[in-house]
Amino acid sequence: MQAFLNTAVQAARRAGDTAAGYLNRAERLEIHTKARNEFVTQVDHAAEEIIIDTIRERYPDHAFLAEESGRQGEADNLWIIDPLDGTTNFVHGFPVFAVSIALQVRGQLEVAVVYDPMRQELFTAARGQGAQLDGRRIRVSNLHSLEGALIGTGFPYRANATYMDRYLGMLQAVLESTAGIRRPGAAALDLAYVAAGRLDGFWEFGLSTWDMAAGALLIREAGGMISELDDAGDFLETGNVIGGNPKVHDGLKQLFSTPPAL
Ligand code: IPD
Ligand code: CA
Ligand code: CA
Repeated sequence: MQAFLNTAVQAARRAGDTAAGYLNRAERLEIHTKARNEFVTQVDHAAEEIIIDTIRERYPDHAFLAEESGRQGEADNLWIIDPLDGTTNFVHGFPVFAVSIALQVRGQLEVAVVYDPMRQELFTAARGQGAQLDGRRIRVSNLHSLEGALIGTGFPYRANATYMDRYLGMLQAVLESTAGIRRPGAAALDLAYVAAGRLDGFWEFGLSTWDMAAGALLIREAGGMISELDDAGDFLETGNVIGGNPKVHDGLKQLFSTPPAL
């Protein structure tokens, strides 16, 4: 798997550094609206092309699932790519965004890279070999309960706005039980932060496979847990996800399954 990981790292660095070069150059950004509150720029497309070209050059038979170009090919090896996670931040010049690349082999996540080009931080994992930040081993936090926890999330703001009422109840419950909530705006990076122990837990509704695939392996390899919010199948498919260190993961799940006090 090391060769796959090296290729993913090279692709992520190339794409991320290219994207970072466009930040705060609004005059050079072509911003299109895919749907309400859903932007895409030529940088998303360019970054995706860089990633796919870099991987395909070495592995011409592999398949791809990438946010902007969709599914390409059928093969045991499937690369799952978010070329620019945090596009809303990016178009505002808000410097929190990342590249996310994962490799699934016969349905099993094997390799993960999340790269933050602004901080030049590289989160990597290979199944069974742990997770690293810039080559140093990372672990989830060791907090034992929600008390004192810092929790990441993403707000419902487009298709997932159907969850708004339920989400607002959850927000209140988490605010009342923890040290605080952060919404940085790039889900792949949020999950990497859980793996690194910078966040103790995370939840969001309506994510896409490419937002979560790399972050999920990072969390598991860092000793954490990630699962479907309602135990309603595979979170990579439903998009409703909870992650965290094992205690905080379970604590959030329990909190969300308790009906709010009247
Ligand atoms: C988005 C970000 C954001 C999350 C959204 C995602 P994009 O990805 O990860 O944090 O709340 O649901 O779609 O569109 O910027 O790649
Ligand atoms: Ca994304
Ligand atoms: Ca994206």
